[in-house]
Amino acid sequence: MNYLFINASELVTFVGSEAKHGKEMADMLTIKNGCLVTEGERIKSVFALSDIDKFDTSNCKIIDCTGKTITAGFIDCHTHFVFGGYREQEFCDRLQGVSYMDIMKRGGGIVNTVNATRQASYDELYIEGLSRLKQYLAYGVTTLEGKSGYGLDVDCELKQLNVMEQLALDQPIDIVQTYMGAHATPKEMSKGEYVDYIINSALPIIKKNSSAEFCDCFCEDNVFSVEECRKILSRAKELGFKLKIHAEEVVELGGSALATELGATSAEHLLKISKQNIDKLASSQVVGVLLPATAFSLKGNYAPARDMIDSGCAVAVASDLNPGSCYTNSLPLLIALSTMYMGMSIEETICAITLNAACAICRSTSVGTLEVGKFADIAIHSVPSVKFLSYNFAVNQVEMVVKKGKVVYTRQKI
Ligand code: NIG
Ligand code: FE
Repeated sequence: MNYLFINASELVTFVGSEAKHGKEMADMLTIKNGCLVTEGERIKSVFALSDIDKFDTSNCKIIDCTGKTITAGFIDCHTHFVFGGYREQEFCDRLQGVSYMDIMKRGGGIVNTVNATRQASYDELYIEGLSRLKQYLAYGVTTLEGKSGYGLDVDCELKQLNVMEQLALDQPIDIVQTYMGAHATPKEMSKGEYVDYIINSALPIIKKNSSAEFCDCFCEDNVFSVEECRKILSRAKELGFKLKIHAEEVVELGGSALATELGATSAEHLLKISKQNIDKLASSQVVGVLLPATAFSLKGNYAPARDMIDSGCAVAVASDLNPGSCYTNSLPLLIALSTMYMGMSIEETICAITLNAACAICRSTSVGTLEVGKFADIAIHSVPSVKFLSYNFAVNQVEMVVKKGKVVYTRQKI
């Protein structure tokens, strides 16, 4: 079935497949009375209603978009969405003033989720993962990245990655897999032993037995040092992984400089990034992935998005959905935090959750913009302008979602 989405009050998109840096992040194309035609999985044409006679719209099912806004399907380029158990008590402790790092030092935090994920069966992880993906679809997300890192030993890391692989086959959202063994040190090893284990055993086995495309490390005080991350990521690169790094989240260690040194695809979090490292990032191809819902949940400062964009960085925004520091996948909340607390315009924010997010997972030649030849991954919002996505803040406006040319979600009428 081919579709003609007709007469959206706004159809908005960025143009091209390269990450937008700095000022370019505001270069959003807005087509008033916008129309889009699909052919199979792809976009066949995009035009204003006044030009409809110039395009072939025969044999299309017509979907009237009068009064609505069409965007590219949203992309969540940093998530930890497959995990066992929950840490609601730690959240309540944090509300009482205990810090995330203190919880970790007293033996809680990521290792709690590691225990629960090790105990969880494949089926349990699958069922929970699927229900999170269903929520995602309702938020207009058509592609996301998912990290392992709650198993640590190879078998349990593979269990998480295999769950993602199966989920990608069974539901509409595309899933890009990241191996993140260097998320914490398991209780059965010293940190040195674990780094050696990742380098010598885990990375080659994961490469051979999973579809993980990226390798990520948590570069943080008391977690993995810059030197340890350099060893792990360099080995991962030799084996053919693309690289990501959790950097400068709690203290500024220099993980973002390591990302530029190693030619990583992205550096993520960056709450504490220095001006010097912002400039390094700006003159590199590394996408800075900002996670404002984590800052909100940790009640800390936000990443310096404005400075980064003004300095010429390519910025993406993602949820960081995980059971510890950020248990939400609310795209409307991300839009609200980006525009209201990170100083980003709505145009920059849309860029950050579409094209630049696609660049952060190396998918920008196929998704992230509404352009001829790309996959027809589309979100239709029940508002007359994209501005309403920030103005009517934290409210989900998604009415219909199209993935690879198929209508995969329609909001129930109330
Ligand atoms: O991105 N920073 C490291 N990893 C996650 C937190 C994981 C957890 O607390 O379970 C993050 O915030
Ligand atoms: Fe994370």
